Amino acid sequence: MLLALETSCDETSAAVVHNGRVLSSVVSSQIRLHSEYGGVVPELAAREHLRNLIPVTTAALAQARVTADHLEAVAATQGPGLPHALMTGFKTAQAMAFALRKPFLGIHHHEAHLYSPWVSSRPLAAYFTSFEPNISLIVSGGHTMLVHVRSELKHRLLGSTMDDAAGECFDKTGKLIGLPYPAGPEIDRLAEKGNPKAFDFPRPMINDPGDDFSFSGLKTSVRYFVRDHPALLDSSKDISDLCASVQAAIVDVLVKKTVKAARRLGVQCITASGGVTCNRALRRELTAVCQANRLKLRLAENELCTDNAAMVGILAERKLRHGRQSDPFTGEIRPNWPLEEALAVV
Ligand code: KG4
Ligand code: ZN
Repeated sequence: MLLALETSCDETSAAVVHNGRVLSSVVSSQIRLHSEYGGVVPELAAREHLRNLIPVTTAALAQARVTADHLEAVAATQGPGLPHALMTGFKTAQAMAFALRKPFLGIHHHEAHLYSPWVSSRPLAAYFTSFEPNISLIVSGGHTMLVHVRSELKHRLLGSTMDDAAGECFDKTGKLIGLPYPAGPEIDRLAEKGNPKAFDFPRPMINDPGDDFSFSGLKTSVRYFVRDHPALLDSSKDISDLCASVQAAIVDVLVKKTVKAARRLGVQCITASGGVTCNRALRRELTAVCQANRLKLRLAENELCTDNAAMVGILAERKLRHGRQSDPFTGEIRPNWPLEEALAVV
């Protein structure tokens, strides 16, 4: 029985996992609080985590019908993320493990996303027996990465974004057209009614031989387009077409580059995780392209795409099973922890 805490950004989350099964997963989102400011305010996030951490942890233990005495280990996100936000969950988990005299594990947030596609829903449980080598796309508000997962817990970063992340591109585009933060889900909703071919936006680095991404040029071209066609924002049809067209450009780049990496490396399976993986067009396109290319596809369940402690707990338990020892109780948060440094063996 392991308790995991996640507080790297604007979700306070606690989960209890046991033998790969998620016994409880409680997420308290601060989205509404930050939405007023058009983005996450780090100081507010830390204060909210402090306020929510104990009620969320108590709820997770209660839902799993366990008390702290039942816990065999405690884990928390160690990085990357907002320093003060990370600190609340990380230090709380460390203190709990210390008091309970149980192992403590600090987990890399993106490594947790990386394995979340292997967790199926109803009931939430990890199926590592069906694990196979894969190319993994991690797409969130802060990061866009392609990772080659050679075997369980052995992975290598292939590429990442040179500027804006895919989620950031959704959010900043939304801001330009007056949508509330985070705009990704709203663009997804509006795009369903729009024509993805209505406007032609650039697909940055789509034909680049490497695995890196860049989305700031796309965002800038949307800015100029909206500046030059202000009347567009008066028509709900044009707004839907604009959302569908921008979304198509983002999805196109993500899907093509992921499949290209899989082909180049001779990998037969693709996985995707992170908040943007909730996007319906991305899920549809990945499904269609993988079918056409006879590639297996595992998409993280929607509830595990956005930040949550369940994925942190699943990975922590897996690491313990693979022989990882307790981290020291004196360890510190790592707000800029590169994924490469968290990787076990390449
Ligand atoms: O993984 P996540 O919860 O937090 C980070 O670690 O960043 O991802 C949040 C991001 C936001 O940029 C949000 O706009 C985006 O995921 N997002 C979506 C959708 N749902 C969330 N983007 C596009 N379509 C969606 N349906
Ligand atoms: Zn995340």
